[in-house]
Amino acid sequence: MKKDLLSLLDLEKDDFENLFARAIKLKERYARGIFDKLLPGKTLGLIFDKKSTRTRVAFETAMIQLGGHPIYMSTQDTQISRNEPARDTARVLSRYIDCLAMRTFDHSLVEEFAKSSTIPVINALTDSFHPCQILSDIMTVIEHKNRYKGIKIAWVGDGNNVVNSWINAASVLGLDLIVACPDDYAVDSQIIAAASVKEKSNIILTNDPKEAVKNADVVYTDVWASMGDEDELSKRIISFEGFQVNQELLSGAKDDVLVMHCLPAHRGEEISEDVFENKNSVFWDQAENKRHMHKAILESLILADK
Ligand code: CP
Ligand code: NVA
Repeated sequence: MKKDLLSLLDLEKDDFENLFARAIKLKERYARGIFDKLLPGKTLGLIFDKKSTRTRVAFETAMIQLGGHPIYMSTQDTQISRNEPARDTARVLSRYIDCLAMRTFDHSLVEEFAKSSTIPVINALTDSFHPCQILSDIMTVIEHKNRYKGIKIAWVGDGNNVVNSWINAASVLGLDLIVACPDDYAVDSQIIAAASVKEKSNIILTNDPKEAVKNADVVYTDVWASMGDEDELSKRIISFEGFQVNQELLSGAKDDVLVMHCLPAHRGEEISEDVFENKNSVFWDQAENKRHMHKAILESLILADK
């Protein structure tokens, strides 16, 4: 039976633990010059309807290093842009490729592909979620702090796709997560409702960034206007006043706080230049870990499908 990765609520705690352990091991082996050719002859399709640097290149290099092949398709270059139904495209691609990673605006499109495909479908970012990002981010937290349990993680910014996946992860893993968003850009109530169904979560919501970062081990931010929201930026800049992650805000956090951002960043908006270039910022580790985590995800989904 094929499995998909559309949101982190698709995973159990053991699945998370296995992916963290596997990605860390694959990273260590790669550093020793060992290339694990785990997916020879397999093909990953990528259909992206939004821009990407990290996620695309991390998936493509992951697949090549695993001995397989990636095929990148901009949605505009496929018949999807001429209204071929998703359910038809999904059934056709299932006859050619072994796994499909998708980046779309509407999350329901990825769900529709998953429903109609006989191959695993991976969410490589939608308007609603960015699950692969948070898997590699928690891997980065484990590398720097040796654990994720009892680590206080503060989100400061928009109630967007990235924080939605943090909330999903927190609900499954029992993360200590505090989320600060302006009232106009708060997290969708459906995301909170879905999280509260799971046990052991410790998720706090606030509109006060200072409260969120107090004694935080990790401070995470992201752009104030995600892809598709750019037209609202000038309006948002007003609502997000006081939400910039800068030295003054960070003075309330622990001295060894990790500053995280999925990137790309807008310096001078959600993060100040000096914090961006500070030694506590671990963006490049986050970006590097995407490739190793993508390998672990591809291995688990493609080999489980056999
Ligand atoms: N963090 C992230 O998903 O980056 P890209 O948009 O460059 O893929
Ligand atoms: N929230 C951002 C993340 C980019 C990786 C966006 O959706 O544009």
